[in-house]
Amino acid sequence: MQKKVNAENCKSEKFQTPRGVHDVLPDDHAYFTIIKKIVRHRARQAGFRRISTPAFEYKNVFVRAVGDATDIVEKELYSFSTKKGGEEFSLKPEGTAGIVRAYIQHGMSSLPQPVGLYYIEPHFRHDRPQKGRYRQFHQFGCEIIGELDPGIDAQIIQLAHLVHVDLKIADKLTLQINTIGCSTCREKYINNLRDYYIGKERSLCKNCVRRLEENPLRLLDCKEEDCCILAENAPKFSTEICDDCRNHHKRVLELLDAVGIEYKENVSLVRGLDYYTRTVFEFMDENGVAVGGGGRYDGLVENLGGQPTPACGYSGGIERIIEIMKSEYLVAPDKDQIDVFVAQLGFEAKKVALQLLTKLRECGVHAMGALGKASIKTQLGKADKFNVQYALIIGEVEVRENKIILRDMKSGVQEVISIGSAVTRVVKKVGEKNLDFYDPSDDLKVEKEVRPEDELLIRD
Ligand code: HAM
Repeated sequence: MQKKVNAENCKSEKFQTPRGVHDVLPDDHAYFTIIKKIVRHRARQAGFRRISTPAFEYKNVFVRAVGDATDIVEKELYSFSTKKGGEEFSLKPEGTAGIVRAYIQHGMSSLPQPVGLYYIEPHFRHDRPQKGRYRQFHQFGCEIIGELDPGIDAQIIQLAHLVHVDLKIADKLTLQINTIGCSTCREKYINNLRDYYIGKERSLCKNCVRRLEENPLRLLDCKEEDCCILAENAPKFSTEICDDCRNHHKRVLELLDAVGIEYKENVSLVRGLDYYTRTVFEFMDENGVAVGGGGRYDGLVENLGGQPTPACGYSGGIERIIEIMKSEYLVAPDKDQIDVFVAQLGFEAKKVALQLLTKLRECGVHAMGALGKASIKTQLGKADKFNVQYALIIGEVEVRENKIILRDMKSGVQEVISIGSAVTRVVKKVGEKNLDFYDPSDDLKVEKEVRPEDELLIRD
């Protein structure tokens, strides 16, 4: 029986993150920051607007959208129910289902179509943890809802590709693409596939025996050796595909050619979520691990209770991208670098130090000061540990003489300057392009008129 937890009986416990989840420490945030910046830039350039859906939804949103016979729903959902009410919720294992739910709930079909939405969010899957596979991980993604044209599929793939180019990892990734047809032509194909596998169950792995019953398409992307051999000889979808789906696929490939995006057709690619129709694609790294994937999901809006609405999208795994960046020795810029350390001794000096820190920060300089009682030597030792480039040093004598010492921490060269000139001198040394200057009043304006987007929120 599980021991009841209370503050007393967990006193001696050594607390750690649960298995498969991790803290994002400041060094890794440098990577998160650059990835988010690039995603935001590319998404806005292409007319997408940002959306965040809740960390948890009613479980049925995922059951309906992703499919109850998928690994994600069957094995990987973190589900819970409240004592009061007893409704079942799940932490979101992926973003598309929640976004489609939001599209329907907020009446986005009345906005100009198609609606382009992007997101950068944590997701949760009770996966078996290993390198690149976590129980909490982050995805960026983009969805275009409300347009059937193959140009949408090409644009989504292009956006993902451009993010990879900006992150300098595009040449490490291969785009694999396939079509799995519409519900009509897929039905015929699935029947053919079932016929082919029946009688061969003994050569299939345990999971595939179950997949044959529940979701035969998934037999094609099993990684077990015997299943791979059988999959290679399985009937090909191209014999069953209807003309509309064939043309759609052909057009997507032609459009990718037109914008110079290389791809490999992979007839076994089916993806592990049930909502896909027609185009499916994945960006694979050199070890065959998917760094991101997506596709068209023309039936999902209707499946979740909306009007029939075509859509297409993509998500990339941020942790997997960071791993590739690190393996390529790509260093993310450290925006947290401290430019100047202000060391002081004595109460009058402390007042001046605090005023200087305030002014330096207002001018965009990253400035730090130890305002405790430690000796100047100890404070400078600290500045060294923070890898600071410059130090301003002030004691009671300097205050009386209206002076301050400016020290270059790397060379050790120091000069005595007036307190009044200290901020200007440091700003000049740090250099304009390195200043972190931001005035929020440039961005925030009071607008009395209610805009149509606001009405959408007010309606809730
Ligand atoms: P997905 O292929 O399940 O697609 O996930 C997209 C990416 O998320 C994967 O390629 C991988 O990089 C990352 N990922 C998935 N599971 C984990 C994990 N346990 N640990 C670390 N990274 C992981 C989707 O989620 C779809 N919603 C994509 C989509 C958007 N389709 C249409 N629109």
